[in-house]
Amino acid sequence: MAKRLAEGFLWGGATAANQCEGAYHEDGKGLSIADVEMGSRAGVRREIHDDIYPDAYYPSHVGVDFYHHYKEDIKLFAEMGFKCYRMSIAWTRIFPNGDDELPNEAGLAFYDDVFDELKKYGIEPVVTLHHYEMPLNLVKKYGSWRSRKLVDFAVRYAKVVFERYKDKVKYWITFNEINAAVISPRPWHQAGVVYQEDENVADVKLLIGHHQLLASALSVKAGHEINPDFQIGCMLIFHLSYAMTCRPEDQIVSREKMLPQFYFGDVQVRGYYSNSFKRYEDMVGGKLTMEPGDAEILQEGKVDFISFSYYFSTVESTDPTIETVGNVAKGGRNPYLNITKWGWQIDPIGLRTALNQLYDRYQLPLFIVENGMGELDTVEDDGSIHDEYRIKYLQDHISALKDAVIIDHVDLMGYCPWGCIDLVSAGTGEMKKRYGFIYVDKDDKGDGTLKRSRKDSFYWYKKVIATNGEHL
Ligand code: BG6
Repeated sequence: MAKRLAEGFLWGGATAANQCEGAYHEDGKGLSIADVEMGSRAGVRREIHDDIYPDAYYPSHVGVDFYHHYKEDIKLFAEMGFKCYRMSIAWTRIFPNGDDELPNEAGLAFYDDVFDELKKYGIEPVVTLHHYEMPLNLVKKYGSWRSRKLVDFAVRYAKVVFERYKDKVKYWITFNEINAAVISPRPWHQAGVVYQEDENVADVKLLIGHHQLLASALSVKAGHEINPDFQIGCMLIFHLSYAMTCRPEDQIVSREKMLPQFYFGDVQVRGYYSNSFKRYEDMVGGKLTMEPGDAEILQEGKVDFISFSYYFSTVESTDPTIETVGNVAKGGRNPYLNITKWGWQIDPIGLRTALNQLYDRYQLPLFIVENGMGELDTVEDDGSIHDEYRIKYLQDHISALKDAVIIDHVDLMGYCPWGCIDLVSAGTGEMKKRYGFIYVDKDDKGDGTLKRSRKDSFYWYKKVIATNGEHL
């Protein structure tokens, strides 16, 4: 039995363009759905505007200004020993309005520079095409992913970037947390949609998911044609659900809670909607009508690997009075687990279970591309940041993933903890909810010098990578 992780294991970190780049209006970039969302706080919805209002504060506009600091940031990633860096391309830098005929050269050039800088340090880019960011124009003009036209626009964008970076990027991910759009009651981040009172919400939910799945499949197919060496993955939000008790009925409801991730996984990995989808349709009371040829499209666009985010688990019960916790993925409180200040239950063993559930079902290489703990950090007088809580969280999760690989023989490509450098929270728009190994001096009002500094976890993760996960 292999006692260690394989050499070549992809240690790295993950970010998303709209949460770190800033420069929201520079070099021809168009407005995105993230650019009109205000900051908020835990448990309160972020206010969404139809345009930029003069006195409002929009955290994505500056982010942590990766756009102007990428050289410094990549140098710090290299100092930690990153083998890969998961990032996303902002669709609005390439096609500012989404339906433009021609791409924006300045946007393409920016990512050329970023990929060249990564290459300088031997860091492999892992690039997400759609990470909670799309042109606002597509929402206003076409109703976002409700419209099938979006599939064409998204595929045009995918082809342009695949062609442009075919010799610079090998690992691609189509949609971040593609299944989150159906889980969310208001999938603005995920799909640019706020449901209207006069629409059949269940049908729209299934349709926006379907359109994204078609766009993903067509992009995968195009990518493989452009460069057969591309490795293109799906990305699921993995929400592990346990039965609250050993009552058989609790087992049924907890399995049903997980249907959205498995129905999306089934389409992207196997190429068809399975029984999980049919049951989900019944549960939400909706019906998907596919067009002729859709089944073939899905069949021809199967992914090469499965990436996923894992943050917490919840429990399910037939008892409607149980306490609920979580974020967009909500569920019951588990009395055996600790919980973060933002109400996310800490469950490292659940990561081992998640890896096993996905690998048993699909037998494709897995990639953990998000995991981590949002916490408040304190900067000491001497500038140091002692984030032992973050180290503990990551230690326990890495230990669990090693068990999945070494004991359970799961095929795992790599590990990219979320927000390797502090960035804007997707859920709340806060800066104080920090995930990074690298601290960024910026607060919830947008004040701060943007100075970067190393936290204790920075030095710890560097050792983890140097020892290929032996030093925890
Ligand atoms: C994932 C998203 O769901 O969770 C990220 O892909 C997000 O974009 C991350 O930032 C953590 O969530 P939050 O709300 O703490 O930023």
